Amino acid sequence: MPLTAPDSEYLRTLVRNRSGIVLGEDKGYLLESRLLPLAKVIGLAGLEELTARLRVEPSGQLARQVVEAMTTNETFFFRDIHPFECLKKLVLPELIAKRGGERRLDIWCAAASTGQEPYTIAMVLREHFQSIASWPTRFIATDLASEVLKKAREGRYSQLEVNRGLPAPLLIKYFTKDGLDWKVKDDLKRMVEFKEQNLLDSFAISGQLDVIFIRNVLIYFDVETKKAILAKCRKLLRPDGFLFLGGAETTLNIDDAFVRADYDKGGCYRLKATP
Ligand SMILES: C[S@@+](CC[C@H](N)C(=O)[O-])C[C@H]1O[C@@H](n2cnc3c(N)ncnc32)[C@H](O)[C@@H]1O
Repeated sequence: MPLTAPDSEYLRTLVRNRSGIVLGEDKGYLLESRLLPLAKVIGLAGLEELTARLRVEPSGQLARQVVEAMTTNETFFFRDIHPFECLKKLVLPELIAKRGGERRLDIWCAAASTGQEPYTIAMVLREHFQSIASWPTRFIATDLASEVLKKAREGRYSQLEVNRGLPAPLLIKYFTKDGLDWKVKDDLKRMVEFKEQNLLDSFAISGQLDVIFIRNVLIYFDVETKKAILAKCRKLLRPDGFLFLGGAETTLNIDDAFVRADYDKGGCYRLKATP
């Protein structure tokens, strides 16, 4: 049976309230294509029964599974390349020069999905900044979805996944072949701590940060949610820290405390100097 208008509305509201993801009225097909397989797996007849269950227990495990199923987890190694060039050529040299006294860096990769983005950052650090390998760098990667985090922690990728963006020399250096898959070597894996963090909640990250990657996730939210998330990022960022957004995202007209860093196509922002 097709999804009814009240059930569609109920599901879209639930997803929005719990994740910030805005699904328009025209996204019924998306709800069906993502949630019918979930209903089947848990032995429900269809979306009518799924929605009825949710109405009885709107904040249980099922609601969580529904929200996770509605997230888009598309990611790949060195996605868009420019942010990682900017990290290598502008951001890290500047921060390393400034933090020579404390000898520490704090990095957060939010909405990290299945891990390709944080492992890309870790490879940039290892490849080009060996001098700070002994610094007690804190590198946290988070996502809302437990399933993608499980894969990220495992660091196991198919041939198809490593073919997307990962240069062959880095594959050979930082991964080992395991059956048909490739596994991230322990040395690289140990650099990243994966944790669950819903961006709608208060950020469970202590201290301040030098670099925040929060790419290709704000596009799913409305302006108020973007504002709230960028305000929380701003509070966590050191005054001379850097924020990276996705290619289709901007702080412009959302949070004017940020200015674009002078690096071509890097998607990188810094805080305006306080007068
Ligand atoms: C398209 S992926 C982006 C992955 C990576 N940042 C990149 O650019 O390749 C978006 C990720 O945002 C996560 N996400 C969506 N809503 C979220 C929320 N409210 N809190 C935290 N993560 C969220 C999804 O689970 C998904 O893994």
